[in-house]
Amino acid sequence: MALITFSSPEYKDRTVYAVAGSHTETLLKVALANKVPINFNCQDGECGSCLVKVTYLKERRVDIQGGPLTPKEITVLKTLGKIAQDEIDTMAVDDLPTSWRLACQLVVRNEDVVVEY
Ligand code: FES
Repeated sequence: MALITFSSPEYKDRTVYAVAGSHTETLLKVALANKVPINFNCQDGECGSCLVKVTYLKERRVDIQGGPLTPKEITVLKTLGKIAQDEIDTMAVDDLPTSWRLACQLVVRNEDVVVEY
């Protein structure tokens, strides 16, 4: 079980429980199921409209699970200027996710996060 806090300057913060580990439960699905008004369009990692900033609430960076970026996600984040090649290279080594993610690609893990949208 994960606690996900959705935060936007336009709406009141909303914290929801999410069941982790299904491999299909994306952050976007959790948002929509809880009526969080997050932007989206393609739902397939191609348009970039579901861009969010994720803060992992683990005290130790090595404890972050995150989940790897999909190839589509990397392509879109590079196009949007939200990820640089050196971050991609670092991710491949230390296996830690970046803060900018696509909600339709990020599968919820068993960890608490704050999601800015
Ligand atoms: S909805 Fe298009 S990339 Fe997520």
